Amino acid sequence: MASEAQNERAGSRQPRPFDPARAGQLDDPARLTYLPPLDLLRLLDPPAGTAVLDFGAGTGTYAIALARLRPDLRIIAMDEQPQMLAHLKRKLAAADAPENVLPMLPAELESGGESFPRVLALNVLHELGDAVLRDLPRRLAPEGRILFVDWNAAAERPVGPPSEHVYRPGEALMRLRHLGYHAVLAGEFAYHYAVIASWTEPASGRLAAGSA
Ligand SMILES: C[S@@+](CC[C@H](N)C(=O)[O-])C[C@H]1O[C@@H](n2cnc3c(N)ncnc32)[C@H](O)[C@@H]1O
Repeated sequence: MASEAQNERAGSRQPRPFDPARAGQLDDPARLTYLPPLDLLRLLDPPAGTAVLDFGAGTGTYAIALARLRPDLRIIAMDEQPQMLAHLKRKLAAADAPENVLPMLPAELESGGESFPRVLALNVLHELGDAVLRDLPRRLAPEGRILFVDWNAAAERPVGPPSEHVYRPGEALMRLRHLGYHAVLAGEFAYHYAVIASWTEPASGRLAAGSA
């Protein structure tokens, strides 16, 4: 079981899962200042009335912020760790919580079989193994794209993982391109870079990549 999990993470720069004991750090309100949700939304540019997959949503800080900014969207907050989703569900139980955030485990996402015009992968690229990144395009609707935003190894940062656990923007681009994505640098923030990635193979290629 352990080696299966390790295999799934092979290729990532930080192959350990995020420690749920640190979930509180994800709720630091300062995050919304140095990485404003509105700026992410501009880069994500989701078509009206569609669903956005927040891949590795954690405690849902950004899922909730995006849902508030865009009530027309459904935000599918997917995370592999039930403890993280439990934290999110507690927030969604508040009277003023948005109703358009749907927490989901990977198996629930899989059984729904939905594909998405936009996927957000925030602070997660450095944790994702090659196998997961090869499978991710299966989740994309035709012409869909993924916004990867992650800690910048080249930035001087008082917050976030150590530089050796994350990528410089050029390294992130190289990794994604090597895996078959079309990837372009879309912006830089104080501590983060943003990459927009799409998958250029036809749909049959996406399915083949997913089943590999
Ligand atoms: C550093 S946290 C970031 C959470 C959130 N995106 C944020 O910025 O607030 C990374 C999250 O990705 C989740 N994760 C890592 N690999 C995953 C995978 N293959 N599928 C689903 N979730 C994953 C972890 O459980 C963790 O909650």
